[in-house]
Amino acid sequence: MFRLSPFSRILSKLFIMPIWKNGSKLCIIHFGKGESDIAKKYRTSLLGKLLSYVPKNIKLLYPFYLAGTLSLKEDFFYSKAVTRDIDKLRIAYCSDIHFGPMFSKDRAVDLIERINALSTDIVILGGDYGETTNTGIDFFKITPNFKSRYGCYATIGNHDLWGNEDEFKNLLDVMKDKGITPLINESYIIEIGSTKLVLFSNDDIKMGEPKLDKLYEAREIPNSFILFFPHSPDILPEITNKKAPVFDVALCGHTHGGQVSFFGKSVFSSSKYKDRYLSGWIEENGHRIMVSNGVGTSIMPVRIGSKPEYHLIELRTLEHS
Ligand SMILES: [Fe+2]
Repeated sequence: MFRLSPFSRILSKLFIMPIWKNGSKLCIIHFGKGESDIAKKYRTSLLGKLLSYVPKNIKLLYPFYLAGTLSLKEDFFYSKAVTRDIDKLRIAYCSDIHFGPMFSKDRAVDLIERINALSTDIVILGGDYGETTNTGIDFFKITPNFKSRYGCYATIGNHDLWGNEDEFKNLLDVMKDKGITPLINESYIIEIGSTKLVLFSNDDIKMGEPKLDKLYEAREIPNSFILFFPHSPDILPEITNKKAPVFDVALCGHTHGGQVSFFGKSVFSSSKYKDRYLSGWIEENGHRIMVSNGVGTSIMPVRIGSKPEYHLIELRTLEHS
């Protein structure tokens, strides 16, 4: 049984619940599936709730203003792995919405409308839809359906697992009802011409039980292009240390670009690899990775040095480069 010091108790009320002292470091306790009684104790911090009332349209209140913005980031992805069949395929990606007290219904609906206005071929969702499993359910219930040519595919993040097993099952059911295909340690193949576009994502590395067998098996599929989209980039080092590329492109979220960062250094990192996967395009041992700043915020509705973003990525053959 853990006992909180009076100081830790005040901190836990203000910032995130619960926090306890582990050696010399303050740690956030993470809850797994099936720990419903404990998981229910998670709440958006009192401070976060209070700060959500700060207006987001006043530039003088810059950290709140920036957190309330949303930018489209557009990239061309040139690669020899891109075949003519999937040349100019357009992918929309967004992650870390964190719907709840710090992310309003209007902003959630606006996000989906912006993505649908892009008329993309595929929509990929990067996880952390709500602050908890239940607010994730609310997010999918109150927003319009995503529209795209080949469908919408989703991974799950650590916040999506902040609930009990029934709540998590409800989240998956609501997603499926909206025509979204969740991929948890599963792959999905879309045949386009003679090219097999393989989509794969794993269970969350922080809160779930990731299994990568289907990802490794996908490399054996002839004429394949493998799009890997884990919520957290922390799963990557055990994959990118392989000699031959395991995937052709990876899209990740989770780090929020630090959420508050100065000169490319985060004040607090949610990654155990600190700023190795802070934001943007990274290449590791022939593996190309994009880490998104995400859309929403966690703990507090503020951002510095890391603007909220969603993405349009267009695949291109090397003939265009
Ligand atoms: Fe997140």
